[in-house]
Amino acid sequence: MTQPLAKEKSSARPFHHSVDGSLHCGEVALEQLAARFGTPLYVYSGDQILERFQLFQSALSGRDHLICYAVKANSTLGIIKLLAKAGAGFDIVSGGELQRILAAAPDAANRVVFSGVGKTAPEIDLALDANIHQFNVESEAELELLAARADRKKQRARFALRVNPDVFAETHPYISTGLREHKFGVDIRKARELYLRAAKKKWLEPYGISVHIGSQIRSASPFGDAVSRAVELVNQLKQNGITLRAIDAGGGLGIDYHAGNFNPAAKVREYASALKKSLANFDGKLIIEPGRFIVAQAGALLARVLYIKKNGKKTFIIADAAMNDLIRPALYQAHHEIIPVTPRKGRTMTVDIVGPVCETGDFFARDRKLPRVELGDLLAILDAGAYGMSQASNYNTRMKSAEVLVQGKSAKLIRRRETIEDLLQQEKF
Ligand code: LLP
Repeated sequence: MTQPLAKEKSSARPFHHSVDGSLHCGEVALEQLAARFGTPLYVYSGDQILERFQLFQSALSGRDHLICYAVKANSTLGIIKLLAKAGAGFDIVSGGELQRILAAAPDAANRVVFSGVGKTAPEIDLALDANIHQFNVESEAELELLAARADRKKQRARFALRVNPDVFAETHPYISTGLREHKFGVDIRKARELYLRAAKKKWLEPYGISVHIGSQIRSASPFGDAVSRAVELVNQLKQNGITLRAIDAGGGLGIDYHAGNFNPAAKVREYASALKKSLANFDGKLIIEPGRFIVAQAGALLARVLYIKKNGKKTFIIADAAMNDLIRPALYQAHHEIIPVTPRKGRTMTVDIVGPVCETGDFFARDRKLPRVELGDLLAILDAGAYGMSQASNYNTRMKSAEVLVQGKSAKLIRRRETIEDLLQQEKF
């Protein structure tokens, strides 16, 4: 058993109540950020994002690897830039996400892997022009299209087939992807034939194989199983004269949304050792695509209490953030811890915490015990750094929140609050 590093923190979150009793992100008081930038407000600890990235780096040290942060988890330019500076690569799923990399960290373009089941010809062209690291191809027809676009440009396209290893990973059905009946990847039993066919195309380079089995997966063993299947395929292909040089294990490592005694460093080590074990006889590059694990716990969504009302037996806390800011509870029945930024003394209340959107599904928590809160109090919805802002919408013509990145004592606005002018100018009537 490896001893925990001295630096390992007991808390998995960068938010803590300071001596004055109010919640801080690192050294910065959240009350002050809310006063300065308004609410709803996303606040991220840049320090934690970098720490999480480094956990993967050190757990994989000693083997050739590339950590491609999954941009969809949080695609804000300030976060992309922060991770790019630390040496991260990026996993993208659209031309739009590639444009974000080109805007915030153009030098990282050659560390980009492009996943996704529906790449269009213009998106493929953009990625060829940007000279990305690899295309993760998800169907036979996409392989044909990639070959045609590469041929037109007389430019080599390195690709990995995304195969479906048919590994079951226990998670929410909307975010499980590794089974044969899912829309992702190609059946692993058909992969060999596709590689052989692709190897004959002048501008296609069979380079790797990719597996992504789903998201918010808490145990390490399904990752190891999926990678073992990839290694079997690599070995088969070698007998056919095709040498693959990279295995992309995808993303998906989950966090504990209930926190407790979750130890992120130990989790990453367990995950990395499951991968390394399966890769023992493969000397190529390991690529991973973590998203949630790097950014989720670094972020909180701050919301102000607008109203408190009782309907029948229920007490509703109506906050100024809503499902358009953070849709995870509505969409996946996801649990997010919610705490008052400056707790009051008094009896706890059992409440539903909801937003102003006109849907019964617009809630953050139901029948939740909360310390006493009053109108105007500030709440922090925790673990909101991943799939929060990146899934935000303008539903009910609500403007998207601002975002602040905290590093040490500094707090930087990385996205200003959207204005009604931003929204209306896109439309004609
Ligand atoms: N790579 C690929 C090909 C993916 O499809 C995903 C996530 C990732 C990497 C990153 O997975 P992560 O490490 O973040 O688990 N909106 C949902 C999650 C959807 C995940 C989709 N794919 C949520 O809020 O839980």
